[in-house]
Amino acid sequence: MNNIEVEKSEKLIKIWIRREIPLNPLNMDTMEEIYEAIRANPEKIVIIAGRNKAFSAGADIKGFLEMKPSDAFHFSTRGNDIMHFIAQHPMPVIAAIHGYALGGGFELALACDLRISTKDAVLGLPEVTLGILPGFGGTQRMKELLGESIAFDFVSRGRKIKGEEALNLGLVNYTSDDPVKFAEQIAEEYAGLPPIALKYIKRLIRKRNDRLFEEEAEYFGKIFETSDQKEGASAFIEKRKAHFTGR
Ligand code: COA
Repeated sequence: MNNIEVEKSEKLIKIWIRREIPLNPLNMDTMEEIYEAIRANPEKIVIIAGRNKAFSAGADIKGFLEMKPSDAFHFSTRGNDIMHFIAQHPMPVIAAIHGYALGGGFELALACDLRISTKDAVLGLPEVTLGILPGFGGTQRMKELLGESIAFDFVSRGRKIKGEEALNLGLVNYTSDDPVKFAEQIAEEYAGLPPIALKYIKRLIRKRNDRLFEEEAEYFGKIFETSDQKEGASAFIEKRKAHFTGR
């Protein structure tokens, strides 16, 4: 792992993007390392953050100079696969953003389940200003989060906004002076929640298809086979804190 650092604990992995180039641009090696770190820890909650001055200022523009159309196609296809993989990771994935989250860096944050940012962080998809378009699912995820009209305004002009405005638009969930610490607090809360219910909730909210209402009912039935469900109900009735075991 040359481009990221990984810190692991029992239920959490923290992935730090740490490139030698300033502002942590995302090249394919970095993306593959993030993919590998998450793939190797399917049961863990994930926090992604950036070392030094930024979360990530986007795809490595310097690498674009030598990119042929077929390379660009593969770059976007593989990048999109990795973003989908992150979005579908069974446990919650939280982006903790400071400095810049632009282009591919912001698309990485958009693929996460929650985004926490400093108020003065700069976020956006400025690709159009470079003569290209977002290639890691940014147009689609922005449309889903903001609706067509606001997403179009934002992406078509390559607007960059501060964390505070992103919070008002619903692009980030929270702002904080210390996004990593805030993310750790949320991760700790998740660690105390029943993992089976959490995985089903994530799947229902993040997966895209029309069968989800049926799936919701299926999962609702299945969850009643678990001891965590019984523990949750018992703890409520007995007025004590529930202790969930993942069974
Ligand atoms: N890819 C490669 N290198 C990048 C980069 C990127 N996406 N973003 C910044 N850098 C490099 C700069 O080339 C510069 O390197 P240098 O010191 O070797 O010249 C260094 O990071 C600092 O960037 P600089 O532009 O000098 O800092 P700044 O504070 O004036 O501006 C940004 C910061 C983020 C606003 C500006 O760098 C920028 O707009 N970056 C591109 C963002 C973008 O369009 N991302 C989408 C890519 S598809």
